[in-house]
Amino acid sequence: MARIGVVGAGYVGLTTAACFARLGHTVVCADVDEAKVAALGRAEVGAHEPGLAELVGEGLRDGRLRFVLGNAAALSDVDFVFLCVPTPTGPDGAADLTAVHAVLREARDAVPPGCVLVIKSTVPAGTTERVAELVGRSDVQVVSNPEFLREGHAVDDFLRPQRVVVGAEAEEAARRVVALYEGTGAPALVTRSASAELVKYASNCFLAMKLSYVNSLAELCEQVGADIADVTEGMRLDDRIGASFLEPGPGWGGSCFPKDTRALLSTAEDAHVDFPLLRATIGTNGHQAHRVVAMVRDAVGPLPLDGARLGLLGLTFKAGTDDLRDSPALAVAGLLAEEGARLTGYDPCVSADCGPVRVLESPEAVARDADGLVVLTEWPEFAELDWPNLAALMTAPVIVDTRNLLPADKVTEAGFHLVSLGRPA
Ligand code: UDX
Repeated sequence: MARIGVVGAGYVGLTTAACFARLGHTVVCADVDEAKVAALGRAEVGAHEPGLAELVGEGLRDGRLRFVLGNAAALSDVDFVFLCVPTPTGPDGAADLTAVHAVLREARDAVPPGCVLVIKSTVPAGTTERVAELVGRSDVQVVSNPEFLREGHAVDDFLRPQRVVVGAEAEEAARRVVALYEGTGAPALVTRSASAELVKYASNCFLAMKLSYVNSLAELCEQVGADIADVTEGMRLDDRIGASFLEPGPGWGGSCFPKDTRALLSTAEDAHVDFPLLRATIGTNGHQAHRVVAMVRDAVGPLPLDGARLGLLGLTFKAGTDDLRDSPALAVAGLLAEEGARLTGYDPCVSADCGPVRVLESPEAVARDADGLVVLTEWPEFAELDWPNLAALMTAPVIVDTRNLLPADKVTEAGFHLVSLGRPA
């Protein structure tokens, strides 16, 4: 079993640290946020991530996991250091590598001979090879090992991954990193570091492209009298297309897709490679929030949006998380507010007001005196609401379902005017 330092106790770093401890390794996880380190030491995990708090508690009790303030302890007496620091979008769309560089500069002088520095942060193709020069130690290898964790499934995705990808110029270092995942049963792919880095972007951008395609198809379905649910059902039966990531929605969001699509486009531009598919993927997604607003405008009409009271069901970027980063729901809310709508919202994982949305404690509170409801996140419980009761609370029972989640028969039986994405009226 190995001694592992993890730098960064964000959602990726914390999952990495807790899961490696579960696999039997000894892990020191470092962060610069004093309050966070103290809370994690008490097994208090801020994020809503199933199973993570339990794993953190288990690691702390078994003595295989500890949290430290500052990076020093995670860089000394370890066999591996995993860099799990953020790489946000910079002003030009490229990934901002400031945090990665800062940790590497510190690691260069601190890590013991034979240590492997593993870049788990999402970084553009070519970064690992370049930073290996920056580290400049012949006794220390730098390796790329991208993560493919979905929020809400991070623990499961780590412990039962579909693949482990390790990119390195030094094959032996790559093999040592692959061995850390023994016990997960995942197939491993060892590549050059630039290829491994690109696997991450290529995968996320492909999924985003699939969704933009489906969202445009949904718009077309409305115009030609087709039903997107039937169309995607037909597509799913072709295993070359695959069954998942075909649900239309208010647009894709979250902490990865928006950042990674822009970063890959920026990499392509730097490399003088024209990548129109990627531009269209991003552009189509930008159009989604406007399209949803137009649907809401039509649905509540003849009432003007200016002054209309609208209730939003779901605020997070997807169900199963409390994450609001780049949430399409908030993009829609922002546009509705610009048009003068007064907004309330309910989300099972959000309690504080977000921007123009006054957050209330229940779907019923949101429906009371509302001129319309808009479903923006696919929380399964929204399919089970008491429709006659909600209809009775509203000034007019109008609902726009951007996730095609609601049981159309029950909702319309309760007297609702239901508008769904990609479905004939
Ligand atoms: C994603 C990748 O799936 C993961 O592998 C990577 O490591 C990080 O980015 P995540 O951001 O957690 O994970 O979200 P994901 O579940 O992939 O959903 C992304 C967006 O697509 C969400 O806004 C979601 O609502 C939307 N989506 C997804 C759809 O609109 N329809 C679908 O069918 C699937």
